Amino acid sequence: MNRVAILISGGGSNMLRLVESMAGDHPARPCLVLSNDPGAGGLARAAEMGIPVAAVDHRPFKGDRTAFEVALVEPLEAAKPDIVCLAGFMRILTAPFIERFQGRMLNIHPSLLPRYRGLKTHARAIEAGEVEAGCTVHEVTPALDDGPILGQARVPVMSGDTPDALAARVLEMEHRLYPAVLRRFAEGDRTPISLP
Ligand code: GAR
Repeated sequence: MNRVAILISGGGSNMLRLVESMAGDHPARPCLVLSNDPGAGGLARAAEMGIPVAAVDHRPFKGDRTAFEVALVEPLEAAKPDIVCLAGFMRILTAPFIERFQGRMLNIHPSLLPRYRGLKTHARAIEAGEVEAGCTVHEVTPALDDGPILGQARVPVMSGDTPDALAARVLEMEHRLYPAVLRRFAEGDRTPISLP
């Protein structure tokens, strides 16, 4: 059985979908939900579900990413994860941290990569006049929002869409895509998934 650690920064709706999916004949189970924000809403929700939780506040490290990651890796390694899922984890990770988990660390990004890496993806897609948006699950490599694509889901951009309206439409697809990719990945299959 694969052990899955999930890293979050906020509400953790993707984390909850991943956790809910890991039941029955699923080849993985959650072993830790970890956040850089002790106040992240998702931590309390995970704890209520009986999942071990931990937080390493990034703020006292004042931008020293390496020192933050030294602290972050402690509870993470202690949980002995086979797979690490970034699910709305909003800190940039350095290459040494990523290399430690490379090949077994996944991320979900709210755009159709390689388009719109980074932040404000929905506003930028609308601004550019895209007719289609979506989300991507990919393996994490040291380059930001890069790495082999494991799945993508598409949604239409509607005329008059606001970034928030588009984000909500994409998030619904994230909730379908990430569990589907995680299951396939845990089964040892890296063939990309395309939704819908
Ligand atoms: C999701 O839309 C996820 O794709 C995005 O943050 C949101 C987290 O929501 N991630 C990124 O932008 C990563 N760069 P959640 O906490 O409800 O899962």
